Amino acid sequence: MALTQGGSTRDGWSSRSAFILAAIGSAVGLGNLWRFPAEAGANGGGAFVLFYIGCVLLIGLPILLSETLIGRHGQASAPESVRRVASASKASPMWAMLANIGVLAAFLIVSFYCVVGGWVLYYVGVFVVDIFQSGLTGGAFAGQDPKAVEALLPAMFANPSLMIGLFVLFLAITVFFVARGVSSGIEVVATWMMPAFFVLLIAITIYGAFGGAFGQTIDFLFTFEPERLTGPVMLAALGQAFFSLSLGMAGMITYGSYVGRNVNLGSTSGIIASADTFVALLAGLCLFPIVFAAGLEANAGPGLMFQTLPHAFQDMPAGALIGFLFFLMIGFAALTSSVALLEVPTAWVVEKFRIVRPVSTALVAFCALFLGVLAALSFNVLADFHPLDFIPLFAGQGVFDVLDGITAKLLVPIGAILVSIFVGWVADRQLVDMENGLSGVLHFVWLMLVRFVCPIALIAILIVGIFPSLSQ
Ligand code: PFF
Repeated sequence: MALTQGGSTRDGWSSRSAFILAAIGSAVGLGNLWRFPAEAGANGGGAFVLFYIGCVLLIGLPILLSETLIGRHGQASAPESVRRVASASKASPMWAMLANIGVLAAFLIVSFYCVVGGWVLYYVGVFVVDIFQSGLTGGAFAGQDPKAVEALLPAMFANPSLMIGLFVLFLAITVFFVARGVSSGIEVVATWMMPAFFVLLIAITIYGAFGGAFGQTIDFLFTFEPERLTGPVMLAALGQAFFSLSLGMAGMITYGSYVGRNVNLGSTSGIIASADTFVALLAGLCLFPIVFAAGLEANAGPGLMFQTLPHAFQDMPAGALIGFLFFLMIGFAALTSSVALLEVPTAWVVEKFRIVRPVSTALVAFCALFLGVLAALSFNVLADFHPLDFIPLFAGQGVFDVLDGITAKLLVPIGAILVSIFVGWVADRQLVDMENGLSGVLHFVWLMLVRFVCPIALIAILIVGIFPSLSQ
């Protein structure tokens, strides 16, 4: 749908539900399915999970509403939207910097996010081949040693051209949808893939509930042991909540800018945050029963989904098929998120340089290609290339980890602190109240959270991120 603003028309969501699905598509991704269970497993389960839910409610949700309201008011790329809100509030146009930081973060993230997207494609391919070898009803990787299944990931890492090929393929699919525009590209991918994703996730979770160690999983994920709630665990939970809700990277400002005036942002933000959290929890409930039933460890970290889990599909009836469906579902979720990430810098280039969308998308993707190739090679030929060795925070890290570290530890917290200060203290109150769709107690609570709780918590995460020894 075209939204009219200042005499010119701009592409936008065709309906409220299209916006909700696209925003959920942006939020639900590798963060929920890969990172959340890995972090919960590595950080001791229940304490992390419950603190995470608190972070979503008290910090994530208020910032989500703040970002979407800036976008909806601005009806432009993220930096221009902030500039418009600043100008209507008689504040300095320099506030647009907060969104420039976000655009940079989204650009850096999409380059390594698509590398991981490539790993997902690899596993989809591996399971397709395996269906032919093991049959539709048999367990996956018939007759193979579990160690050989775990070795699939390092074998892929050791193959630079395969890794680059998979990354480029995933990036190319992302470009295809972003280049087609908001209503005929991004919205289409979300409205088809998100429902398919939900069906697959629920089906696999029910399967795990009957066949796997469900009781053990519930104990693991929801037993709150206060002594496990240490500084690093709290920090991991807050960072994860931000990544998962796509905050601090101008993503939700950009998606908010395609929303029509008739949409209540308060209630839609609630729906988006609930759906994202529901999926993260469901991912835990889907993954751990399979892992526990196979007698495997929960704390495998990033290897949990790519190494531990495929090996659990071995003993499962129809394991090859279920493994294929599982990774296909992850691929859908990753794609709706990478599309959102690429859209942030693309919308900015379209507007700033007045270049048509397909060319802008290609330009941004070309730059991301360069970084992504370096990130992919940091698992093999460039393993010893540590570009920021002279900065203690990034010493000894390859390109992939450096990109992750710069965005998660610096850009995202700084961007989010500025959003909360801007919306809580600087922006015109009437404008903010008109956009946020809240009233009464809810409005008061939201304002207190945006003004006080969010900046304080985020400044803490920034400081501890830079000086990790403080949280020990
Ligand atoms: N929220 C996504 C995930 O959990 O995988 C990642 C992401 C997507 C972050 C889009 C930021 C964004 F703009």
